[in-house]
Amino acid sequence: MRTKIIAGNWKMNKTFEEANGLINEIAKGIANKDFNNKEVVLCPPFLYSEMAADFADDYNFSVGVQNISQYPLGAYTGEISAEMVRSVGVQYAIIGHSERRSYFNETDDILSRKVDKALENDLTPIFCCGEHLDVRKGEKHFKVVGEQLAEGLFYLDKEDISRVVVAYEPVWAIGTGETATPEQAQEMHEFIRNQLSNKYGKNIASEVSILYGGSVKPSNAHELFIQPDIDGGLIGGASLKSKDFLQIVEAMNDE
Ligand code: PGA
Repeated sequence: MRTKIIAGNWKMNKTFEEANGLINEIAKGIANKDFNNKEVVLCPPFLYSEMAADFADDYNFSVGVQNISQYPLGAYTGEISAEMVRSVGVQYAIIGHSERRSYFNETDDILSRKVDKALENDLTPIFCCGEHLDVRKGEKHFKVVGEQLAEGLFYLDKEDISRVVVAYEPVWAIGTGETATPEQAQEMHEFIRNQLSNKYGKNIASEVSILYGGSVKPSNAHELFIQPDIDGGLIGGASLKSKDFLQIVEAMNDE
């Protein structure tokens, strides 16, 4: 049975003190909950990973980062490697978020190298894919997402693809307040699972968690999470307020 995951992507937000407070509130809010086959992942900025991982030791959540370098340890000024984040207790790495693709020119080739670095260091990649608005309007969204998967992920062998989490995040729904309808999201998730199945077989495809991201909030989380191919969410804005994030975690727990 595949794992259900709610991951909070804090992006470049919060001072140390605020981050500490938010982690504390979320950790206490989910303490003693029985997350059988469900996982909560907090992805604060790099700087707070270690602090978050220290909390995670005592509570039932995991820590992720929002990016990793495609390079190994060495002379890469300003970069943070997979080895480093793993060494402070991080377990997940978001790779290929649309903001990284757009603002930092991360290509499919770079992203596949980041996926490799994550897997080599025992981090679970949360590999993001999703189309821009003009692509959806031009009805090319399946083609574009199919290519992102083919180029960024489908070079992996069966064993490695089973260690990956996919996140579908339509770019037009990120931070805009506009969410894909549950039907639109389900349709794309089913497409992604079919692509996985065509390449790796039905059994593997049925084990890969596929998260939805893009303006998920307490009011729409439940209707998204009950879709058969939606295995949780990657939450941006709503992960910055403990009350909202905890309600979204509950919505995953509702089913
Ligand atoms: P949002 O962001 O929930 O604020 O739309 C999602 C994401 O970018 O991961």
